[in-house]
Amino acid sequence: MLTFLRNLFRKRPNRRVVKTDLKHLITDVHSHLVPGVDDGAPDMTSALALISRLHHLGFERLVTTPHIMSDLYPNTPEILQPRFNELKQEVSKRFPSLKLILAAEYFLDTSFLALLENPNTLLTFPCVDPLNGDKHDMLLFEFAFHEAPNDELLTEAIFKMQTSGITPVVAHCARYPYWHMERSKLESLHDKGVILTVNAATLVGNYGELAKETAHYAVDQGWIRMVCSDTHAPHHIVAVKELENSEILAKLIENGGLLNPGVGIR
Ligand SMILES: [Fe+2]
Repeated sequence: MLTFLRNLFRKRPNRRVVKTDLKHLITDVHSHLVPGVDDGAPDMTSALALISRLHHLGFERLVTTPHIMSDLYPNTPEILQPRFNELKQEVSKRFPSLKLILAAEYFLDTSFLALLENPNTLLTFPCVDPLNGDKHDMLLFEFAFHEAPNDELLTEAIFKMQTSGITPVVAHCARYPYWHMERSKLESLHDKGVILTVNAATLVGNYGELAKETAHYAVDQGWIRMVCSDTHAPHHIVAVKELENSEILAKLIENGGLLNPGVGIR
């Protein structure tokens, strides 16, 4: 009895109550949902199952971003658009309120630089910055994981995008192992006006402690402006669910710089 009373009145540790609804994000900005075009959803049934789960988490808009990678996934807008249209038709029957947008995740190489010569043909996505109402036309791009991007190539790609009126968005910035110990590279990209994104799976530790630490550090520095699911398969959606009511999502929302809610609006 005495132990019970002691436990009842014992001072509880000062834990912060965090309430962060995923609905605050509104838009998921990175996913591989177009059936059979890359390493994402293999067919229509899988794509619709993934979309259903994302929609149930509270997302109202999904920007789907198939890989465009000259050697492994030589996708083009001509290949992607018809398959995306089929998906969109199925989605509109099942989830009429969900908005699906086609963009792409471009791999940084010389072929990408060549594509940047014709900016009108690029698969970009719109965003209105919730902070200041600025309108952006954004493009998602990524680097190799085993080798840091060539500085000249990167600088030229950013320059070409920005001079064409396109805002560069770096995919999963905390997943590149060569930058875990060189985080100033992330800062310099942020300072150049490049939008840095992190995957939910990185924030919850699915890509290892160093990637998680780098992602949390970048959030603390205020460099992260988007959180993405990068859904290829159901486990990526589980990671997004883990963010709900987490300190790190609360921090991202409290920082006030998240662009997710403005993505998909012109
Ligand atoms: Fe991706």
